[in-house]
Amino acid sequence: MEKLSYVGKSLPRKDAEIKATGAAQYAADRDFAGMLHAAAVRSPRPRIKILSISDAKARKVPGYVTLVTYRDIKGVNKWPVVMQDYPFLPEREARFAGETVALVVADTARAARKAAALVEIKYRELPYVDDPLKALEKGAVKIYGRDNVISSFVIKRGAVDEAFRKAAFTVEGEFSTNYQVHAYLETQGSVAVPEAGGGMTVHSTTQCPFYVLDAVSAALGIPYHKVKILQTVTGGGFGGKEDVPALVASHAALCAAKTGRPVKLIYGRKEDFQSMSKRHPGWARVSYAADKNGKITACRVKYVLDGGAYSTLSPIVLWRGTVHAAGPYKIPNVGIETFAAATNKVPAGAFRGFGQPQICFAQESLIDELAEKAGLDPVRFRLKNLLEPGDRTVTGQRLKSSCGLSELVQAVRSRSGWDKKAATPQVRGDIATGIGFSAVYYGVGLGAKGRYLDRAGALVNVYKDGSVGVNVGNAEMGQGALTVLAQIAAETLNAPYAGVRVEEVDSSKVPDSGPTVASRTTLMSGNAIIEAATPIRERVFKTAHSMLTGLGADPSGGMTAAGGVFSMGGRSVAFKAVVAECWNRRLKMAEQGWYAAPRTTFRLRDGQGDAYGVYSYSADAAEVEVDLKTGVTRVKKIWAAYDVGKIVNPRLALGQAQGGILQGMSWALYENLVYKNGIMVNPNFTDYVIATTADKPEYDITFIEKPYAEGPYRAKGMGEVPLIGVAPAVANAIKNACGARVKSVPLLPEKVWKELKKG
Ligand code: MTE
Ligand code: MOS
Repeated sequence: MEKLSYVGKSLPRKDAEIKATGAAQYAADRDFAGMLHAAAVRSPRPRIKILSISDAKARKVPGYVTLVTYRDIKGVNKWPVVMQDYPFLPEREARFAGETVALVVADTARAARKAAALVEIKYRELPYVDDPLKALEKGAVKIYGRDNVISSFVIKRGAVDEAFRKAAFTVEGEFSTNYQVHAYLETQGSVAVPEAGGGMTVHSTTQCPFYVLDAVSAALGIPYHKVKILQTVTGGGFGGKEDVPALVASHAALCAAKTGRPVKLIYGRKEDFQSMSKRHPGWARVSYAADKNGKITACRVKYVLDGGAYSTLSPIVLWRGTVHAAGPYKIPNVGIETFAAATNKVPAGAFRGFGQPQICFAQESLIDELAEKAGLDPVRFRLKNLLEPGDRTVTGQRLKSSCGLSELVQAVRSRSGWDKKAATPQVRGDIATGIGFSAVYYGVGLGAKGRYLDRAGALVNVYKDGSVGVNVGNAEMGQGALTVLAQIAAETLNAPYAGVRVEEVDSSKVPDSGPTVASRTTLMSGNAIIEAATPIRERVFKTAHSMLTGLGADPSGGMTAAGGVFSMGGRSVAFKAVVAECWNRRLKMAEQGWYAAPRTTFRLRDGQGDAYGVYSYSADAAEVEVDLKTGVTRVKKIWAAYDVGKIVNPRLALGQAQGGILQGMSWALYENLVYKNGIMVNPNFTDYVIATTADKPEYDITFIEKPYAEGPYRAKGMGEVPLIGVAPAVANAIKNACGARVKSVPLLPEKVWKELKKG
């Protein structure tokens, strides 16, 4: 193993102090001279034909400045996401309750809100669709294309029907999952500042500054070089600040362009609930077949996501769900068909796991049922079927090294005391205790469906005083990117960690680096930093060597570099002194780097190809207590093991694991966004319940590092993996505890209770 100074150490977070002290500047904290405020006017109903919009009453509010509608759009009224069906502002039809129809600009935020509430939309209600399965029926009201299908994929492999005919055991089940709200602490927001010469600078809370750049340029109809996006400190994203910040920023920019003054647009929590992206509700029918030895022979899946009113990221979310729909097993015969259906509800988008948690809940629940039919313990059954290095996935991709799944399963099995606990669930009084399992694989990065975006840039700048500035195109949103990337830069340059600063993204300093999603940042930006830093490293190391030689050091033992110090033959020089000498010698101390992901493929006809460059893995065991009288479930403990390659910062990795588990548990048990007749009924944190630290289970977390040769210091990606397998592990534990098989998330007490009554 190479000796590392910074990578692999639990160094302090770069943003800890500003966040803990409240000094961090979020979008809402950015103020500019002459700044105005905007507020949105929203559609009151799920689907309307807009007849007219009047600000006659709004004009009377003191401080009122103007109304902004689609007529003010100088560019193209199509937000460029994947498919471009979402107008920046609707012209004739609004397609979900809460959609921004127009914006009001005023002197203060309060006046803007007050005036927005007085803007009158005259409309006619149109028939709407609120159920994705009904949307796909023949006679359904057509709201999207010819068939309400936003996107659809297949995976076909082997002979599925025949395998089912010949099977010794088969299982089938229908499963569903509800929305999940990102519940980031900071709501969406942007400040747009017009620049002299017709440019626009936008300060935006976002995971994807380059999506904001695309959108603002399109909405204003001005070229990219006149637009600058500055990512503000981002108070949580979880996928919720992937696509939609581009819409919010464009709205602020349209207001700023019209008024010629800086405009701030900060969302309230209710409108954020109503109009910003969510985890897609999912529905799936899954069946598995196995032979008499307990080997899985076939899998059939129909998977439907509720995409909401516009396509946004549904095609990509659905694609990831499709590729992972059969679970991390060797299965020779596979038939998967998937659909994202349009409904007149909030457009659903990215959320940690990106279309995987929904289908994973279904297939990992059903794997337990199949194990039971085959007469095998769920873990032993999984071990017989798990993907291992050399095996092929359902897309026909052969897994190379860096696949530690079976070791993860064994680790969780032994650490949780699985064999004994699973065989003997306990009942004491009304409380039943049980344990459940799940196994997950996760393709790191965007994969074949997003491969044109899977590249990243970096700019590394070593200053005269030996401090280091790094610009990247991926964002910090709480996951620790600034810290991990600083560790990678420090390691590569042998620069002291404290003197390395990674900046929030400035779109004018680095090339488009794709979105900060799909747990790709460490891998993509990390590699780009290494590429940029390597030539500087060579100059620094050469200079250090010559300085040490000049000091009379004996070069025969070679030079070592560690912790920001260069040593040879008993003498040493610090990075700072070496850098000063490099500048004296007029060496180039700034470099650009670029990294493009390895080639991936996916044939649309049958879904075969190398879908992702590499996979991360997890295994989870959940121990639960179920109250047999009320159906209330409490998760006592989660044992989890991860193979995410080399761990760059163990403490941050642990934080990602704990946060992901808790967020997964929250979705599994509590989170329940309710729509009635196309209207969201609980858009607030009083009626929409999420887990807090008071609900947290005990954690037992293990990392088994299978190095990935392409990764920066052998790392893969870990941000999303910990969430994915939690819900099925909890559901399987409930089954183990009390016999109730609940097939819909959230696993609410009344659902458990109903199953118990059936029992
Ligand atoms: N952790 C925190 N604290 N806040 C976040 O918003 N987002 C998650 C995950 N962990 C998130 C987080 C999501 S959805 C992704 S894709 C990854 O972090 C992105 O980070 P990475 O690319 O650095 O892995
Ligand atoms: Mo994460 S859902 O890929 O932003």
